[in-house]
Amino acid sequence: MCTRKIIKTFVNKFLIMETFLKLKQINLKYQTGKYNINVLKNINLNIKKKETVSVVGESGSGKTSLIMLIGGLEKPTSGKITFQNQEITELSEDEVAEIRKKNIGIIFQSFYLIPNYTAVENVALTLELNNFKNPEKEAKTLLDRFGLKHRFNNLPSQLSGGEQQRVAIARSIAMKPELILADEPTGNLDTENSIMIANILFKYVKEEGSSLIIVTHDPKLADKAKRKIKIKDGKIK
Ligand SMILES: Nc1ncnc2c1ncn2[C@@H]1O[C@H](COP(=O)(O)OP(=O)(O)OP(=O)(O)O)[C@@H](O)[C@H]1O
Ligand SMILES: [Mg+2]
Repeated sequence: MCTRKIIKTFVNKFLIMETFLKLKQINLKYQTGKYNINVLKNINLNIKKKETVSVVGESGSGKTSLIMLIGGLEKPTSGKITFQNQEITELSEDEVAEIRKKNIGIIFQSFYLIPNYTAVENVALTLELNNFKNPEKEAKTLLDRFGLKHRFNNLPSQLSGGEQQRVAIARSIAMKPELILADEPTGNLDTENSIMIANILFKYVKEEGSSLIIVTHDPKLADKAKRKIKIKDGKIK
């Protein structure tokens, strides 16, 4: 191998991978009436490809705000966010939405399923909107992988909380995003279902090689991630 090629391989393998997701001096302020709230203060964070990171911290410490910023659903007051070598903080809302659609899957505590769509239809819709060839087939494969073969044609109201969250996860990751953001995905579930959802999520991430940032109040779930980040009063501790 010539020297140039070796250098290029090194850059690709190590340096670029290092900058999969980078937050640099992020500040987020909200103004409500006369008051300014400094929600996130000088956040610096570097997340690698395939890395699993849990975010813990007290209620109101800024965890959801951090997820919203990384997912491009909110803009920081100052600072830079780089995702896959693209500075998303300087892109338009539409451009960020395009990146998010293909590369970032977001899972929330509430399931937000379409009530009059079946499990398969809820997942297939995302694929259809992204011009997948066989959305229904793909949706079924994914739901089967999450142990829901017997629930393909059920409406959300006919599913348990754990089953609904599995459908919601399948929908969020249907595009096989390289980054998965999960904000308290087991927050509405009992212990048994929480364990099942956690196992499904971590197994999927390992098999697909995606990165995962998971916000949770559950210490056992937090421990499943390779790295744990604690937020206190808007700062990483
Ligand atoms: N749109 C908004 N306008 C004003 N203040 C906001 C807004 N969104 C969040 N905040 C405030 O920012 C702070 C952090 O909120 P955030 O939702 O990020 O906390 P959290 O760590 O996710 O809490 P929890 O564990 O309860 O979900 C809170 O004080 C909250 O009231
Ligand atoms: Mg929150």
